[in-house]
Amino acid sequence: MDLKETLLKYGFHFESDADTEVIPKLAKFVHDILNEDLGSDGGDKQVVPFTQIVMDVMRQLEGAYALICKTPYYPNELVACKRGSPLLLGVKETGDMRTDINVESDLSAEGHHGKPKEYYLASDANAIVEHTRRVLVIEDNEVVHMNDGAVHIFKFDSDKSRRLLRPASVQRGLSTLEMEVEQIRKGNFEHFMQKEIHEQPDSLTMTMRGRLIRGGEQKAKGILLGGLKDHLKTIRRSRRILFIGCGTSYNAALAAVPVVQELSGIPVTMEIASDLLDRQGPIYREDTAIFVSQSGETADTLQALEYAKSNGALCIGITNTVGSVIARGTHFTKAYTSQIAVIVMLALALGDDSLSTQQRRNAIMDDLYNLPSKVRDVLKLDKDMKELAALLMDEQSLLVFGRGYYYATALECALKVKEVSLIHAEGIVAGEMKHGPLALVDETLPIIVIATRDASLNKQQSVIQQLKTRKGRLIVMCTEGDAEFMCPDRTCRIIEVPKVQDCLQPIINIVPLQLLGYHLTVFRGFNVDQPRNLAKSVTTQ
Ligand code: F6R
Repeated sequence: MDLKETLLKYGFHFESDADTEVIPKLAKFVHDILNEDLGSDGGDKQVVPFTQIVMDVMRQLEGAYALICKTPYYPNELVACKRGSPLLLGVKETGDMRTDINVESDLSAEGHHGKPKEYYLASDANAIVEHTRRVLVIEDNEVVHMNDGAVHIFKFDSDKSRRLLRPASVQRGLSTLEMEVEQIRKGNFEHFMQKEIHEQPDSLTMTMRGRLIRGGEQKAKGILLGGLKDHLKTIRRSRRILFIGCGTSYNAALAAVPVVQELSGIPVTMEIASDLLDRQGPIYREDTAIFVSQSGETADTLQALEYAKSNGALCIGITNTVGSVIARGTHFTKAYTSQIAVIVMLALALGDDSLSTQQRRNAIMDDLYNLPSKVRDVLKLDKDMKELAALLMDEQSLLVFGRGYYYATALECALKVKEVSLIHAEGIVAGEMKHGPLALVDETLPIIVIATRDASLNKQQSVIQQLKTRKGRLIVMCTEGDAEFMCPDRTCRIIEVPKVQDCLQPIINIVPLQLLGYHLTVFRGFNVDQPRNLAKSVTTQ
């Protein structure tokens, strides 16, 4: 607003309310002033370098951004820069690629091989990978300058008095993206969401590969978390473990909290990143803060990471994206495709100095090993979930009750349903039912109750009973073989799922609910792969 007001005073007109519009207008303003100051005769020749203008603009901006700037004043040039938000430079050339390319000397259009190069700028590797795997991750306060096909990268200098000094150049090697083009295509599926749901057996297998040691002859079962193994002792000594994330990542951590607490013996708390920041919640040197983020680029989570670091906590990142800001910003990182499985493995690793939990740990490890095939089994419910979606597609609202391990499942089901199918859905901890939500129950409102076997099965049975007394329209998720037991009068719709150890059950239970969200959305005619008003990576606060 401050910048906009100044620009308005100088006669600039704005066509939108978007704060982004301030940036090019400010650049024009800076361009005119600098050229005047430096005695330009107003002709075509630009006295001030384009990078200088962009850097002057950067000095005025607050908050997170990634910018790509072009202007007719500098016809063959392009300047890109970032602070807080992600930016990648992809480099493609024909012929053999060397593994290390010196940015300053090698990023010219002709390069050492005399081969022309193509450059790509994007905020996400997915946009680049089909063209090239060779990328340079642009860091905060770096400025990329492309001029007639040559690329130079400069360090932004915040010192306002250093106008027109040549900024320091940056030299760094390119890295290689480890993702297949096929990975980002839809394959035989109609939508990406559908593909992601069905690929979960593979992503779980990949998550556990090399980390879950099967045991067998003379070998003990165990968990090997390479990046963490030297730090487990430090984590075990921490006074508290905090999991921090947003949305689905928060829900994944919530699902795994009980087992981390059980096996590590350390108190575990959960924080929604934005809420932690709003409250400036207490974090101490004796804390281990674990940041969970699929993209590794979520602004709230990144800010919380900076906050925890500045308070001296030990910081760990769990992210799906190697090379993301969180992966590079945390003290040591594991990047996995399946967040719950990885946190369970972390719990197992933290507990593996305890003899008393050995049996429990072995049972969890056995089930982890079998998890991909169990997920494959549960995916067979696709047709049933499609039928259920057809029944629910015109509903306005859906309640989901879970408790203990399955409260997180209830939250995640509700998040997915509302996010993609745009039906209002609410995840409720079942113990809270009688403290308010019961008033909503009638014969029309659909209610999903997650009641797979665990220590709180009896309590969930009683919830079902109370809901039935109020003529609730129930969909009960139960363990295979329990249908009769959970709903003897057969008035509920049943989703039966295979049983695994309680701490892994959330991974099984969410699958049919994801399928439900998917089919509801398709039936309702919305775009599953582009939820309304949402960005894949939330890089703004
Ligand atoms: C919902 C969803 C979001 C993200 C949230 C955090 O399907 O994807 O709730 O989980 O925006 O993003 P990440 O996990 O990338 O930090």
